[in-house]
Amino acid sequence: EKVFLNGEIVSAEDAKISVFDRGFLFGDGIYEVMVQLENGIFYKKAHLDRLQDNLNKIGIPYDVKNIDDALEPLLKASGLTEKSCLIYMQVTRGTAPRKHSCPKDVPASVMMYALPYALPLINPKHMKAILAPDFRWHRCDIKSISLLGNIMANEAAMNDLADEAALVRDGMISEGSHTNIFFVKNGTVITHPADNHILNGITRMIVLALCQNLDISVIERPIGEDEIEHMDEAFFTGTTTQIASIAILGEHQFYENDNIGKTTKRLQETFAKLRT
Ligand code: PDD
Repeated sequence: EKVFLNGEIVSAEDAKISVFDRGFLFGDGIYEVMVQLENGIFYKKAHLDRLQDNLNKIGIPYDVKNIDDALEPLLKASGLTEKSCLIYMQVTRGTAPRKHSCPKDVPASVMMYALPYALPLINPKHMKAILAPDFRWHRCDIKSISLLGNIMANEAAMNDLADEAALVRDGMISEGSHTNIFFVKNGTVITHPADNHILNGITRMIVLALCQNLDISVIERPIGEDEIEHMDEAFFTGTTTQIASIAILGEHQFYENDNIGKTTKRLQETFAKLRT
């Protein structure tokens, strides 16, 4: 197993970072997850652009072109050229004595690896999701490596033998612990606007574009917890989740016997075609 670390490709056991790395001490960094499928890295440019945007937002001076250039050599060294795999990358503010003030002239720490990872054309899951309080910060648009709020919500879901947690802030559903969430009502797709309370998922943006192509109307507005029972369909989106039908959300059951909503199914089928 190979790891790209600060400009070099080394074996995983040799990939070491300092305990004074600000990613380790403060969670001061940004990450991305993308997948390579049959026809190449899925929406690579969108992922790298978001990474660059996020680094700019928190003032880590780093050009993601370096990561782009390292992708091919990393995949080659990992034996994953043109193979289905998951690519994880993170950039932190680098190593410096522990102080809240950001160090100047310290190079960012950059780490990336790829693992074999197969994704079905369509996610066959009928997800069960709990509702969990969204007690994260107010900059969820930043793909921070500090994920404690997300992890605690996800763990609550795991403890309930559920697949995912939908987060509720001030009575409104924001997103999943590692996914975005969509609803369908009378054929209209409804999802939380891309503000500071959600991560604007690449999959979310793809689904919105597909809706436009398919002449499906879209409303971007937060959905109240109390509206769930009035919705016809719901699904999660994400890089590894793709489009996953939600069968149960909190107290509400959308379908029985592995049924799935018409619009969800149509979007799944259209989404699958992006891989060919
Ligand atoms: N999760 N919202 C949150 C909080 C996320 O962590 C993610 C991604 C998404 C969906 O974004 P995208 O469609 O760009 O993957 C939404 C990644 C995959 C993860 O943490 O593993």
